[in-house]
Amino acid sequence: MKCQKAIFSLPPEVSYLNCAYQSPLLRSVTSIGRAMVDQKATPFRIVKDDFFAPTEKLRSLFAQLIHAPDPKRVAIIPSASYGLATVARNIRLQKGQNIVMVEEQFPSNVYTWKRLAQEQTVQLKIVNAPQEDDQRGAMWNKRILEAIDEQTGLVTIGQVHWADGTLFDLEAIRRRTGEVGASLIIDGTQSIGAYPFDVRLLQPDAVICAGYKWLMGPYSIGLAWYGPRFDNGTPLEENWISRLNSEDFGGLVNYEDRYQPGALRYDVGENSNFILVPMLSTALEQILAWQVTEIQAYCRELVRGPIEDLRALDFKIEDEASRCAHLFGIRLPAHINMDRLKHRLQEEQIYVSYRGDAIRVSPHLYNEPHDLDRLVACFQEST
Ligand SMILES: Cc1ncc(COP(=O)(O)O)c(C=O)c1O
Repeated sequence: MKCQKAIFSLPPEVSYLNCAYQSPLLRSVTSIGRAMVDQKATPFRIVKDDFFAPTEKLRSLFAQLIHAPDPKRVAIIPSASYGLATVARNIRLQKGQNIVMVEEQFPSNVYTWKRLAQEQTVQLKIVNAPQEDDQRGAMWNKRILEAIDEQTGLVTIGQVHWADGTLFDLEAIRRRTGEVGASLIIDGTQSIGAYPFDVRLLQPDAVICAGYKWLMGPYSIGLAWYGPRFDNGTPLEENWISRLNSEDFGGLVNYEDRYQPGALRYDVGENSNFILVPMLSTALEQILAWQVTEIQAYCRELVRGPIEDLRALDFKIEDEASRCAHLFGIRLPAHINMDRLKHRLQEEQIYVSYRGDAIRVSPHLYNEPHDLDRLVACFQEST
């Protein structure tokens, strides 16, 4: 795979290594977005089919990406927190049960469960990362499995840690949750689109994914997949389009108690968003054409040498076996001045994220070795 920077609009002098914050838009995605804004200026061009066909296509593209056989299990959501709130609304735990998650999860995937824990009198079990550098990822995974017990009602976790890219062994976690009868909820926001994910293999209960990072879509649209455990549940809101026969515009006031099939009942209101839906679909088409395995392989090749160089300078980075390649955290030794390093990176227009004493680097196909060389040079200067 060749570097794909030419089909984005990133300025040549910028090294954008921050897809985990926001992806840039593909030129093709910007164009369709502009065309759809223009369409709204002439609303007589928006026809009934525009409410249904584009969302059907979007569901089907996401289903392909996660290898889900039935696109009707995919719901259109405005944010990860919305998709998680739907899960929380439909989970009934018993007093004394627990919810397992890891340390420093993204807040949308913590506050939801804090509320549920209060309302249903259950315990939150937070599994801390080991302090040791050696075998950190493997030990963390072991601790997660040990934390899941007969009282566990739900495990909610990312495929990778959003701050440092530690990979969680979802297959082992699924086996363990299966043994104790707990639900498994995956936040795929920092991995799906850049790291392989297979619903058939994993059989999770729900997968939630914001769309503006590795799905390369615009802000305020994401996708969620809900498994059979959520069939016949209660949505967060009651919108007209989620009801059966909503395609019959003339009959909308023949109020209908039944919902559309699958997970369509969990769609956000105005799910047909005529601007955001085609933008996200265009991005997913490109990701599927590239292939997720190729994206991951490209990033792995891109970061391998620079990571070795950074390790040689005494910066700490998770082992390759326990870490994805599209997102990694660099922890600084105590003597390095973070502010100075940050300033240098800004001067060089190298964009990364800062998380406590760590720096998060998240490349994609628009990056080339030159971007990583410039990054390593700034780290080298700081030592
Ligand atoms: C792991 C993870 N989940 C979810 C989100 C976004 O959550 P929301 O869509 O609720 O704003 C982020 C954003 O950084 C994230 O890193």
